[in-house]
Amino acid sequence: MREVRLSIFGFGNVGRALAGVLLEKEPFFRERYGLDFRVVSVADTSGLVWLPEGIDLREALLVKENFGKLSAWTNDYEVYSLRPEEAVREIEADLVVDVTGDMRAHVWHLEALKEGKGVVTSNKPPLAFHYSELVGEAERRELPYLFEATVMAGTPVIALLRENLLGDTVEGIEAVLNATTTFILSRMEEGMTFEEALRKAQEMGIAERDPTADVLGMDAGYKATILHCVAFHPLTFGEASVRGITGVTPEEIERARGRGNTVRLVASIREGSVTVEPKEVSGESPLAVKSYENVAIIKTDLLGELVIKGSGAGLKETASGGVGDIVKASLQLPKG
Ligand SMILES: NC(=O)c1ccc[n+]([C@@H]2O[C@H](COP(=O)([O-])OP(=O)(O)OC[C@H]3O[C@@H](n4cnc5c(N)ncnc54)[C@H](OP(=O)(O)O)[C@@H]3O)[C@@H](O)[C@H]2O)c1
Repeated sequence: MREVRLSIFGFGNVGRALAGVLLEKEPFFRERYGLDFRVVSVADTSGLVWLPEGIDLREALLVKENFGKLSAWTNDYEVYSLRPEEAVREIEADLVVDVTGDMRAHVWHLEALKEGKGVVTSNKPPLAFHYSELVGEAERRELPYLFEATVMAGTPVIALLRENLLGDTVEGIEAVLNATTTFILSRMEEGMTFEEALRKAQEMGIAERDPTADVLGMDAGYKATILHCVAFHPLTFGEASVRGITGVTPEEIERARGRGNTVRLVASIREGSVTVEPKEVSGESPLAVKSYENVAIIKTDLLGELVIKGSGAGLKETASGGVGDIVKASLQLPKG
């Protein structure tokens, strides 16, 4: 049995879903992979709870659920107010798991790697802005740096491009990578205005309270940039051309419908170029996804056209990507 010490940053929707899977499937990870996970720290913005012997995740979930913040957990545990960059230096762990939305997280990802720790993340901006630095550092140190859940939640498009298709040359990718915009555009097809559809998405908890990153195309732009980095070579979000769906009118949607088509926020990725914009696509195209699905059509010289489609959001689905990476990273960690 190999014990792997995890230091988890972020205890929001994804962090708690991931903790739930680690708890529920503990016997599966032991039996199937010989891995025993010990969570030595968990943090939210209120504080960091740290116990080298391992913290009780069940209790952590109860505290967060009942009090809304980990800093309320003061009876058995010490709560620290370490910044993540200090925490990754001080805490003895094998893997740092980032399930925050911290825009500056690349700083502590790098710090973690320099400290000899592997990193697993679902947080997009570090990769969309600093891919080359982060992946380069991990490669130099022969440490895992895994980010499956950043694109298409648990649908394994990153692994497909990074670990399979190694003999293929990717010629291009077309993809729908943001579920909120698909939801809004689908409702507009049913006659709602953009504002009504957005309100509905917020009421149903599909869109964030601040939906800017989704509707302006930034979320899809981050993801498309990451796909470009993996399929071709590193570039940054600043080099991507991004237009969201705020300018899409009911008339455009209606005209597309009349032609048997549908409008989706489509990412087009070619070597050296990333474009995200609303596009009319055939109702028969794999890009005409519904609800939470995301899809990527990958064109390669040997395989031709490959379609990968699956859930692009959701907590269990994102936890699938995150936990899968934790297992993979654990098996890749240097022995001893
Ligand atoms: N939700 C999805 O379906 C999905 C899918 C793919 C990827 N992701 C990505 O996964 C990440 C987490 O998403 P989420 O839906 O779980 O967001 P969330 O519910 O807002 O949770 C974010 C968590 O991170 C904590 N946090 C933020 N900055 C921190 C810092 N510097 N140090 C320690 N903790 C910090 C927050 O603390 P507080 O609790 O104190 O606010 C919160 O617990 C995001 O990057 C998101 O883009 C989400």
